[in-house]
Amino acid sequence: MSIRTNYEKWYEGDEYYWGTEPGSFCDELISLCPPSSDKKVLDIGCGEGKDAIYMAQQGYDVSAFDLTDNGIRKTLRLAAEKGVSINAYVDDINTFSLDEQFDIIYSTGTVQYLFDENKEAFFKKLEKMTKPDGIVFINVFVEKSFLELPPDWDKEEKMWKPGELFTFFADWKVERIDEVIFEDNSGGVLHYHCMDTIICRKVVS
Ligand SMILES: C[S@@+](CC[C@H](N)C(=O)[O-])C[C@H]1O[C@@H](n2cnc3c(N)ncnc32)[C@H](O)[C@@H]1O
Repeated sequence: MSIRTNYEKWYEGDEYYWGTEPGSFCDELISLCPPSSDKKVLDIGCGEGKDAIYMAQQGYDVSAFDLTDNGIRKTLRLAAEKGVSINAYVDDINTFSLDEQFDIIYSTGTVQYLFDENKEAFFKKLEKMTKPDGIVFINVFVEKSFLELPPDWDKEEKMWKPGELFTFFADWKVERIDEVIFEDNSGGVLHYHCMDTIICRKVVS
């Protein structure tokens, strides 16, 4: 079992650390690429599966991976509880390899675990794995001189530079791009995050 991050411990219990409600970005993705059983979705760093299960419930064919064994165990449990089937497995954002293409690829709250030396290769992989007209959604935590490092920041996590994420998508059609600062009370200590987000479409001319 991998113990590179704190999540193995946080996901141990029966309750869902992140809850079971999907992120609001899921409905944005659904409206940009409406579901059907032949449309494939990939969730990179699926946690305990709240978003992946929601996407499967909409009718997509969903694959999802996460480094944390307990996250995948809980993802499969949630899928069974909700009566959907998904392909969920343990893998690493730094080294994974997939020889297939997806209509939607997303990663939320996870890309800060990508090592610097793997960034270029990761975004090339994403480009290759996205079908023509397919959608990618990524968000990253970015550093701001006026914000302190969050109290529960892992030793493996790495802040990105503001705007850095967007530079990897110069040739894509941007559907939404933004940077927001928000409050977080995880771990019982109020703190702030700054996050860059992009949703974009692969245009093949
Ligand atoms: C902030 S959580 C987000 C989880 C999920 N996307 C969600 O929104 O509920 C970050 C996730 O990244 C996963 N993670 C950490 N390092 C990883 C790696 N190298 N490869 C894949 N997943 C990783 C953790 O196990 C954790 O589930």
